[in-house]
Amino acid sequence: MEKSVTVSNGARPAYEEKEDALRPEDLSEMLAAGTKEVHEKAENTQFVKDFLRGRIRKELFKLGAVALYHTYTAMEEEIERNKDHPHFAPLYFPAELHRHEALARDLEYFYGPDWQSQVSCSEATQRYVDRIHQVGQEDPVLLVAHAYTRYMGDLSGGQVLKKVAQRAMKLPPTGEGLEFYQFDAIHSAKAFKQLYRSRMNELELDTETKKRLVDEAVKAFQFNMEVFDELEEIGKTIQEEVLDAGMPVHGAMDGDINK
Ligand code: HEM
Repeated sequence: MEKSVTVSNGARPAYEEKEDALRPEDLSEMLAAGTKEVHEKAENTQFVKDFLRGRIRKELFKLGAVALYHTYTAMEEEIERNKDHPHFAPLYFPAELHRHEALARDLEYFYGPDWQSQVSCSEATQRYVDRIHQVGQEDPVLLVAHAYTRYMGDLSGGQVLKKVAQRAMKLPPTGEGLEFYQFDAIHSAKAFKQLYRSRMNELELDTETKKRLVDEAVKAFQFNMEVFDELEEIGKTIQEEVLDAGMPVHGAMDGDINK
């Protein structure tokens, strides 16, 4: 179609609107479709279901924050290493997304000033961390899949999870201990996710690479589930009162999660 069409009333010609529409071969669409099944599995792990119901033991929640700290430390270290790589640079949003420092503050709140001497990296988290470093150093384009899986997920459910945790553990309304869930530099999660999707779609990638990215994102979800399962197992050995803040699970919550 002729590209130089002008429309006198300022409306955009129909073909341009079509160009904006998402196509199945767009990376964002391939990732969403390719991780749909594993996303459902992740939602249905016992640890995640308990969390959403407000059944969170504080000791276990703290260990979850430790796992996230190690995960994001590795991911953001690799992102920094690859920030100028053409396959990652358009997705480099340190001020908006990076969680390493927020998690360090959360851990300081929970464990005190010497938190670093009190926390260690669990086995399942270490496997996830090792993969992130391997990807960042040997096959950096695959970092996109790791960033997608964590940051897009955090932007989708963060506010709901924050409220559940705050209520269940009676944490201060000022947000201490839950900075991880708070993206201060993002005013609209929905708009930011759209920007992130369009940046992913502008990466110059062939079909084969896009497929490898989908496979890597599925792996990233699996690493997360292994961490949840490990936490679940540790939880069985921790004797502590279960705090039941009761929150409807899924379905009823979907409207709250800012797509
Ligand atoms: C998106 C719910 C757990 C990663 C979403 C969306 C909802 C949602 C409603 C928005 C739908 C969409 O954008 O298509 C939930 C619920 C969970 C959960 C209720 C737990 C019960 C997880 C976990 C991960 C994750 C554990 C990964 C670690 C993602 C990603 C997206 C997403 C990457 C973006 C999908 C896309 O637009 O491409 N989630 N989620 N979610 N979630 Fe989750």
